[in-house]
Amino acid sequence: MNIQGKTVLITGASRGIGRAIALELAKQKAKRLILVARNHHRLASVAAEVEVLGAEVVLLPLDLTQLVEIDITIARTWKDYGPIHLLVNCAGVAHQAPFLQSRFKDIQSEVETNLIGMYAITRLVARRMVTQRQGVIVNVSSLMGKVAAPTMATYSATKFAIVGFTKALRCELAVHNVKVLSLLPSLTDTDMVRDLNWFRWVAPITPEQVAKALVNGVKKESAEILVGWQTYLAVLCNRIAPSLMERVISMAAPLSPQSKYYLKLKEAKAET
Ligand SMILES: NC(=O)c1ccc[n+]([C@@H]2O[C@H](COP(=O)([O-])OP(=O)(O)OC[C@H]3O[C@@H](n4cnc5c(N)ncnc54)[C@H](OP(=O)(O)O)[C@@H]3O)[C@@H](O)[C@H]2O)c1
Repeated sequence: MNIQGKTVLITGASRGIGRAIALELAKQKAKRLILVARNHHRLASVAAEVEVLGAEVVLLPLDLTQLVEIDITIARTWKDYGPIHLLVNCAGVAHQAPFLQSRFKDIQSEVETNLIGMYAITRLVARRMVTQRQGVIVNVSSLMGKVAAPTMATYSATKFAIVGFTKALRCELAVHNVKVLSLLPSLTDTDMVRDLNWFRWVAPITPEQVAKALVNGVKKESAEILVGWQTYLAVLCNRIAPSLMERVISMAAPLSPQSKYYLKLKEAKAET
């Protein structure tokens, strides 16, 4: 897809990878960017940066866990600013804890935002793209959507689901000339990961690197856009030697006797 002159809706655009994608698409001369996230103030500051680059901006403060609100807002937005040519489903949340210690409200928030919210917005936009017989949808998964990560079980599950969902939808919508792609970054230096215990041997990439990879992938309409050499290496190793990869991931995971999770687990055991 040629990005120049297009209208793009980006969820999770208030910071991190979504913000970087908005700026990169503006540099690529996208005509109009529709920015979605909950925090109006942060969206407005991204909008100011995007407008300097010459793109028109529409702000959509929206909580992707509020399904009725999504329905009304997307219908109105398409009517006022459509057609949307490119949808980037980037909003997401991540909580880290060994599964047995995870809180149910965190599990629920990951499933509701990363999956249900994405399904809801995709259904509404994809139906309209099908009528137009054109469009590209990019779903942001992760390296953790290919290689499952201990301490991130639910997050990994949502990201694996995004890969599967994307493949199925790609087949369903191909006859309507709507392309569905997935983007799989490795660890990226954003707010999301600042409070996490990082996996050993993983070096973070920047949101700008992810945004550039997205633009290249959209131009080529690549089915899966892998970002960072670590993602390529991990995906390859996982395909060739999955058991070995599981052992390496277990060694890299923050489950060492010094980690706070291990200590909490010991405390819990001592109490019972
Ligand atoms: N950082 C990484 O290492 C990494 C690696 C691979 C993949 N990813 C994926 O990349 C995407 C972006 O992550 P990031 O690192 O940029 O995270 P981030 O800096 O925490 O940003 C998350 C974005 O999602 C929005 N968001 C969260 N919950 C929302 C909700 N209920 N409704 C609407 N918007 C919501 C946030 O905006 P508000 O708070 O304003 O709502 C924010 O704009 C996620 O899907 C993540 O899983 C991240």
